[in-house]
Amino acid sequence: MTSASSDVLIIGSGAAGLTAALNLADRFRVTVLAKGALNEGATAWAQGGVAAVLEEGDTFASHIEDTMVAGAGLNDRAIVEMVVERAPAAIARLQALGVPFATEGEGLHLTREGGHSHRRIVHVADATGWAVQEALQKAAEAHPNITLVPDQVAIDLATSRHEERYSGAGNVWGVYAVDRRTGRVNLFTARATILATGGAGRTYLFSTAPRGATGDGIAMAWRAGARVSNMEMMQFHPTCLYNLEVKNFLITEAVRGEGGRLFNPLTGKRFMPDYDERAELAPRDIVARAIDAEIKRDGLDYVHLDISHMPADFVRGHFPTIYDKLLGLGIDMTAAPIPVVPAQHYTCGGIVIDRDGRTDLPGLYAAGECTESGLHGANRLASNSLLECFVFGEAAANYIAAGWDALPAVPAIRPWDESRVTDSDEEVVIKQNWTEIRRFMWNYVGIVRTTKRLQRAAARIKLLTDEIGDYYGHFRVTPDLIELRNLVQTADLIVRSALHRHESRGLHYTLDWPETLPEAVDTVLVP
Ligand code: FAD
Ligand code: SIN
Repeated sequence: MTSASSDVLIIGSGAAGLTAALNLADRFRVTVLAKGALNEGATAWAQGGVAAVLEEGDTFASHIEDTMVAGAGLNDRAIVEMVVERAPAAIARLQALGVPFATEGEGLHLTREGGHSHRRIVHVADATGWAVQEALQKAAEAHPNITLVPDQVAIDLATSRHEERYSGAGNVWGVYAVDRRTGRVNLFTARATILATGGAGRTYLFSTAPRGATGDGIAMAWRAGARVSNMEMMQFHPTCLYNLEVKNFLITEAVRGEGGRLFNPLTGKRFMPDYDERAELAPRDIVARAIDAEIKRDGLDYVHLDISHMPADFVRGHFPTIYDKLLGLGIDMTAAPIPVVPAQHYTCGGIVIDRDGRTDLPGLYAAGECTESGLHGANRLASNSLLECFVFGEAAANYIAAGWDALPAVPAIRPWDESRVTDSDEEVVIKQNWTEIRRFMWNYVGIVRTTKRLQRAAARIKLLTDEIGDYYGHFRVTPDLIELRNLVQTADLIVRSALHRHESRGLHYTLDWPETLPEAVDTVLVP
């Protein structure tokens, strides 16, 4: 085992992690880990853009209100205000880093997405995340104080329990991570550790999220003793491409923002006006449930999203990435509708943090999709997520820098112990359990829930937790095993949270508790 030490350790090289790194690096030595390539997180996949009040006539009050309405009142208003008010400055910093946002006349071009009462989304055509990731990564690579280390799969946080001489202080001192290339476990220590590990979308069979979205940071923080909140609030994006080969290609909400309409392919009827007066621009939970209802009622495989009534040049100009991708699959979106289905898209719940990105554990901070900051409440408003990464990445960095002198030095930490494990002789267990979890989460803990289905899921999770725990205790860790262990842990947190909420609110919709209670209360799980 090798061990490396820096001032601040950041686990995750997406928007949240790299923002934090760039805000710390002028004063501190920063190490950033990624579990694969640096650009394999959800950030690079973002299509629509970043929400900010920039349109004439738009106001912070309106963005705040839209965020609270989408979040069904479960949001923390003070946090919503903080994030919304910091958005224009965050956009300006990204421009300074070279992100080539689309322009119109003198200013930025703003597109529209569901739940927003104004044009508010700055974007780089339909591949915003790629441009953001590229700019942040380029700046981080150029900074002499930032060490970027890909292919390190974090296993567990190093805490007081791993100190050579147990202090009982409860601090987090870094992380143990397995090197994907060598299979060896390394120890990375630091006075401050920031989790920026993204979401847990791959807990579900169908998800727009990248392969690595297995809830690792949430599971690690939970095992180390931090609270998690609102894990039942899993967001389903209404319009994922329906294609038997390409399973997780998103069709951005901006397609609906720029005029796309949803049709039932059996009846040919435009159905969204029957469900909500905002029609296709209602918040995502409403559109996803409407599509789900149409599909279930008529036994459909998909519904149609159609923007072919708009001029072909306009469609190609706004959505070049999607246009090219679909054309490659034989669909010309300027002339024909796109088959779409809802798919898991975003993890609204996560590690509880405060306005400075502090978790419950001394020395541990978190930012981005792995957190529950209070911004999204029961449903995230479109394009508020990258924004959250920029605001909290910076907030955590500023807090660490301001309190640096009071942070204790890292004590001696025990090396990773592999003396009682052997190489696995039953890899099939991993594949079987991985598929099983994702399938029952989709069927039992999806868009529309019932207590009975949740209990069925809980019973399976219990069995699998024991089986995976046993396997983990006997065999050498591999990236797949680490992810499987986190997947079952995250599934457990989601189902426990869902069973706990006896109402329907935002993304959590259950036939057994269809009413929304008068008071919005967070689901907080305490380890
Ligand atoms: P990520 O960008 O997901 O990065 C996670 C990082 O953590 C990666 O570097 C990964 O390697 C690392 N990591 C994870 N686990 C480990 C581990 N065990 N060990 C080491 N490293 C680890 N949001 C918007 O606001 N606007 C949009 O237009 C938009 N479009 C989207 C489109 C798609 C298809 C998807 C999937 C999401 C979209 N989102 C959008 C959501 C948004 O992209 C994400 O919420 C956001 O990028 C998350 O950033 P992050 O920094 O928290 O995590
Ligand atoms: C999209 O482009 O539809 C995704 C936007 C988001 O997830 O915020």
